[in-house]
Amino acid sequence: MERLRLGVIGCGAISARYLENLTRRFTSQVEVLAVADLLPEAAAARAAEYGVPRACTPDELLADDAVEMVVNLTNAFAHYEVNLAALRAGKHVFTEKPLAATAAEGRLLLAEAAMRELTLGGAPDTFLGAGLQTCRKLIDDGWLGELITSAAFFAFGVPSVRYHRRGAGPMFDLGVYYLTALVALLGPVTRVSGSTASPRVSEHDPAEYEMPGLSCGTLDFACGVRGVITATAASFGYQPRLELWGSEANLTCPDPNMFGGPVVLQPRHKEPVTMPLSHGFDDNSRGLAIADMACAIRFGRPARAGADLIFHVLEVMDGIHRSSDEGRHVAIESTCERPAPLAAGLTRPVLEA
Ligand SMILES: NC(=O)c1ccc[n+]([C@@H]2O[C@H](COP(=O)([O-])OP(=O)(O)OC[C@H]3O[C@@H](n4cnc5c(N)ncnc54)[C@H](O)[C@@H]3O)[C@@H](O)[C@H]2O)c1
Repeated sequence: MERLRLGVIGCGAISARYLENLTRRFTSQVEVLAVADLLPEAAAARAAEYGVPRACTPDELLADDAVEMVVNLTNAFAHYEVNLAALRAGKHVFTEKPLAATAAEGRLLLAEAAMRELTLGGAPDTFLGAGLQTCRKLIDDGWLGELITSAAFFAFGVPSVRYHRRGAGPMFDLGVYYLTALVALLGPVTRVSGSTASPRVSEHDPAEYEMPGLSCGTLDFACGVRGVITATAASFGYQPRLELWGSEANLTCPDPNMFGGPVVLQPRHKEPVTMPLSHGFDDNSRGLAIADMACAIRFGRPARAGADLIFHVLEVMDGIHRSSDEGRHVAIESTCERPAPLAAGLTRPVLEA
């Protein structure tokens, strides 16, 4: 296939992993032509490190006709403006999570992409990893029987104002992995309720947060499952949990922030068993959804981490916070298909289908 030509905007911490994978791993699908950042030295350093031909300003990158897709790795509070500018420059866009800080902003981006017939997609892509793809196969093969309920929970400690800026906070920064995994496994959500707070548990905690430090939500899935999610950055350590209960078995999923990890199935009245992973990509494969998007664009099929999915998850997160603010259930207007599973056992060729 003709490789998709990329420009990366945002050369901070996570850009190293993306550039490693985009320039050394997914080289059959993509080619990185340029990197840009508000800080010229950050762009120059990444270009040198990963052999990218051009380091430039974000405006120069957007004006480069050779760049077909922008990979937006800027901070969450800048996602909307960078995504909008890239679409207006006629580029396909892959954005780090979240798509935008509110569902209203997300809707504008979807409309812009649709009007220009551009492909929009984004992180997280961990649901394409070996762990969650194995979970998907177990569900689809009927191991859990009829699905009943799900529980997503994670607690860790980040007492910084910066972490709780617009577009971030525990629900938008990490809850997004759990919700994307759940939608990929169970399908879309039709209604949510929420309750949020910003606990102050140490003298280092800021007096005011832009985003809640604790978000709890209930999730009504279209398939009938009723689930819960709890996300807090006002704790300590790092405690990820994602569990599904069915009529025939319970499933403990791996940390949805990771590509691999243990998948534990407990059939009714039996001991839990760690299942073999049925799929590839069990290591840090960030950028896998970009390679998938490149194939989607070249072969004319939907991207797995496409606009429908990332907007739906944004609307769910936004809805949980809105429900808490407004004291009522919130109906989720958008819907999406479960993204097509990857074929078991394969790695690179699987992306083309
Ligand atoms: N760090 C991680 O482990 C990690 C993991 C997964 C996802 N992410 C996500 O990746 C994104 C970036 O995170 P990070 O940790 O690399 O942040 P970072 O602060 O290390 O880097 C962000 C970079 O974006 C640049 N930037 C900000 N606004 C810009 C703009 N308008 N135009 C051009 N450049 C701009 C900054 O100068 C900075 O170099 C965030 O959305 C984050 O949630 C981070």
